[in-house]
Amino acid sequence: MSARVIDGRALATGLRVKYAESVAELVRNGIVPGLAVVMIGSDPASHLYVRNKIRACDECGVRSFLHALSADATEAEVLDLIGELNADPSVHGILVQLPLPPQIDVRRVLETIAVDKDVDGFHLYNVGALTVGESIFPPCTPYGVQLLIDQTGIEIEGKHAVVVGASNIVGKPMALMLLQRLATVTICHARTVNLAHHTISADVLVVAAGKPGLIVPQMVKQGAVVIDVGINKLADGKIVGDVDFEGVRDKASWITPVPGGVGPMTVTMLIRNTIRSAQRLPAGSFD
Ligand code: GUN
Repeated sequence: MSARVIDGRALATGLRVKYAESVAELVRNGIVPGLAVVMIGSDPASHLYVRNKIRACDECGVRSFLHALSADATEAEVLDLIGELNADPSVHGILVQLPLPPQIDVRRVLETIAVDKDVDGFHLYNVGALTVGESIFPPCTPYGVQLLIDQTGIEIEGKHAVVVGASNIVGKPMALMLLQRLATVTICHARTVNLAHHTISADVLVVAAGKPGLIVPQMVKQGAVVIDVGINKLADGKIVGDVDFEGVRDKASWITPVPGGVGPMTVTMLIRNTIRSAQRLPAGSFD
């Protein structure tokens, strides 16, 4: 039987309507949520992602402030800018689009962002908070994936969740969120020996490897929930994920498409975190 497709675009659209109402409520109370986006250099993928983020802000009534710096910007310039944004009361969220040019120390930049404006959740304080299950700003992509999994109605407690990819942005926080939901979690990465041995036993398979066609049907358990975080541009311009969608949909129970799966949710979670910052609510009080 063919898997049911989890429509990330539809879920994201519905959430954005809800978030626009939350913004309107804040505005009635004299607060306009604001997101500062810092982009350094001219990486085409980063430009596209930033454009999508700003469009989502517009859609929900969040004010956005784009700071586009040249590829040869110095670390001191970036840190000064972040210092100004930290002090600016109209800015509730600060996002520095990654990757950064090599002359800039990414950790130093992320650690300079005020913890209570760190809507990406990449500051070590927020990474630690996620680790102990008290995240205020859950990283956007894995949080979006969690909502997509919830959308299936499948209970993940006690199930085997396999995450392919161990990046700080997706794989590691994803594994922590699944663990928080009491799944049994395996993290696979580029050095994993016999990847298929692990993926075949996954009840929930989250793939964030950045390799088109990595996951083929023989690697997937019958009835698994398959979430494809990959966004890869092929030579012919086509955008595909890391999963052989057409092949795997015959084995999975649920599957996300690319595009239209995880991508729209990532951007929507950024809006969610920015609104939450503007509301200044403690953990767990807004969703
Ligand atoms: N680059 C790729 N994904 C992300 C993300 O979620 N946040 C930031 N800041 N940069 C990214």
